[in-house]
Amino acid sequence: MVSRLNSLLDFDSISATRIHSFFSLAEKIKEGKMQPRYRGEVAALMFFEASTRTRLSFETAAARAGIGSFYFDSGAKSSLEKGETVEDAILNVAAMQPHVLVIRAPADLPLREISQKINTPIINAGWGAFAHPTQALLDMMTLREAWKVQGGSEQGKKILIVGDLKFSRVASSHIQLSQMLGYQVGQCGPESLLSDSPHVQTFKSLTEGLRWADAVMALRVQFERHGSNVDFSKETYRQQYGLNAVSMAELSKNGFIMHPGPINHGIEMESEVLADPRCLVLDQVKHGVYIREALLRSFLGEGE
Ligand code: NCD
Repeated sequence: MVSRLNSLLDFDSISATRIHSFFSLAEKIKEGKMQPRYRGEVAALMFFEASTRTRLSFETAAARAGIGSFYFDSGAKSSLEKGETVEDAILNVAAMQPHVLVIRAPADLPLREISQKINTPIINAGWGAFAHPTQALLDMMTLREAWKVQGGSEQGKKILIVGDLKFSRVASSHIQLSQMLGYQVGQCGPESLLSDSPHVQTFKSLTEGLRWADAVMALRVQFERHGSNVDFSKETYRQQYGLNAVSMAELSKNGFIMHPGPINHGIEMESEVLADPRCLVLDQVKHGVYIREALLRSFLGEGE
């Protein structure tokens, strides 16, 4: 028996035991052991930033479990056009009493405060550069399975994150999750994009980092968040930190290659890398549906 789930905004208020129970449930779902069991339960998806994978994988996950979902499209004709605030829109959707709210929000939305004003639990589907917990969970489900085949686990494993850690919510969530699950995070990239977390080991070059790593994760360079604070051009980034067939020769043959997507081909990753047998990019997407179904089911009370 574990305590009831309130919201999943980051990994601050969640235990490692709970995280392992998400993985176990996601694994059972993957093995086809969980039947759709809901009828009338509703997940409300509200995305205030662009999304392809995260949105569609939540929708697919809900459908597979039998949970109804509706999508509030902030770009379409909604009352935001009439001047309604994002916060008001969320409070109103919460008043319709969905069982869970899945929200993608820009950094300036006070998601934590909003979650305290409503009874509906919120799953963070990407919030500013702060956190993207479901992405870190699906990445780790993917790697745990890949390492299990090799006879290992995530304990002590080394993940090199390349590029834009500073502005990436995916990196922020991995730094937090690594502390709970016992894997290590390394980084390399342009100075202006590096994380200052004490939990991250910094490498001077991509080659040095790749020789250390058990897995490498390229991140999309978050151009929309940089303003004028950058110390590199796209071309120098590509030359120094781009993953390509030549740089991938430095990664162990038992290593793995990841990217949360969307990929900027020709900047952080060349298309040829997707054909590398060590590349898990589409496996990440596949596991995203299992993890999100496990989360939706957990928020509806399964596993308590
Ligand atoms: C990421 C996001 O939106 O944070 N994408 C995703 O959810 N798969 C990464 C990104 O936009 O760079």
